[in-house]
Amino acid sequence: MTTSKTPARGTIASRADRHALYERAVQDTERDVRFFARSYRKLRGHEPMTLREDFCGTAALCLSWVKSHAERTAIGVDLSQDTMDWGIRNRILPAGGDYVDRISLVHGDVREVRRPKVDIVCAQNFSYYCFKTRAELVEYFRAARAGLQRDGVFFLDLLGGTEVMMEGITDNDLGEFTYRWEQARFNIVNHDFVCHIHFLFPDGSRILRAFTYDWRLWTMPEIRELLLEAGFSDVHFYWEKTDAEGEGMGVFYEPDHVDNQEIWWTYVAAER
Ligand SMILES: C[S@@+](CC[C@H](N)C(=O)[O-])C[C@H]1O[C@@H](n2cnc3c(N)ncnc32)[C@H](O)[C@@H]1O
Repeated sequence: MTTSKTPARGTIASRADRHALYERAVQDTERDVRFFARSYRKLRGHEPMTLREDFCGTAALCLSWVKSHAERTAIGVDLSQDTMDWGIRNRILPAGGDYVDRISLVHGDVREVRRPKVDIVCAQNFSYYCFKTRAELVEYFRAARAGLQRDGVFFLDLLGGTEVMMEGITDNDLGEFTYRWEQARFNIVNHDFVCHIHFLFPDGSRILRAFTYDWRLWTMPEIRELLLEAGFSDVHFYWEKTDAEGEGMGVFYEPDHVDNQEIWWTYVAAER
């Protein structure tokens, strides 16, 4: 008997799925879950069980959260029903178990969801940069605080560095494809910046502008001040220790002083 493999049709780009590529290139939700749970335990002395993922997209973090403990539950909030549906179809249902019963996805604006109250609200990958004025950002931070239990913690992340304020391209070769981050525009007057994510494949095909972000680059002191203005009692910035090659070691500390770098990101925790 002979078998013949049907050659794949079209380019790699035409067969690729931009959500799957995004998850692989950008997210590390297991690391986020480990960090949130550990930091919460340190701050509060008990185990966090309920989490709300704002700007959840495919709800990858919700899924990692409920997988990390048999009794944990998660709520995801996003404006895009299509993206959440993709997550249910391609990730949550195929994962099996009772995960689908422990995740609720809410189609709505993150500034409008208050209930049920949770131990942790999180906003990852700088999604809250879509709020470009202090008034809008404080309104969102107030909503995140209102959604927390009395001893809840709000986790977000922050991006910065000299390169973030310049036009330019960073390529990351991930084997099956290259993840390209493009800083297309930066306006020093108001810190508006526009970025694109592109995916490039070994056969020369590409998905250009798979995702585009029109953001304001917020700074560390602004984020601290606006979280406090929104009512949070304390704000922590967690910096990752790096090895001799500059690679992150998964160990975080709270610095008093850090010299600027070309590009950096950090976790932030705000105590309700
Ligand atoms: C950069 S993606 C984040 C995906 C993923 N959660 C992550 O951490 O990488 C931003 C998501 O935020 C959603 N979004 C933007 N503004 C929103 C808002 N005001 N309320 C809820 N979701 C919003 C978009 O639909 C999109 O899915």
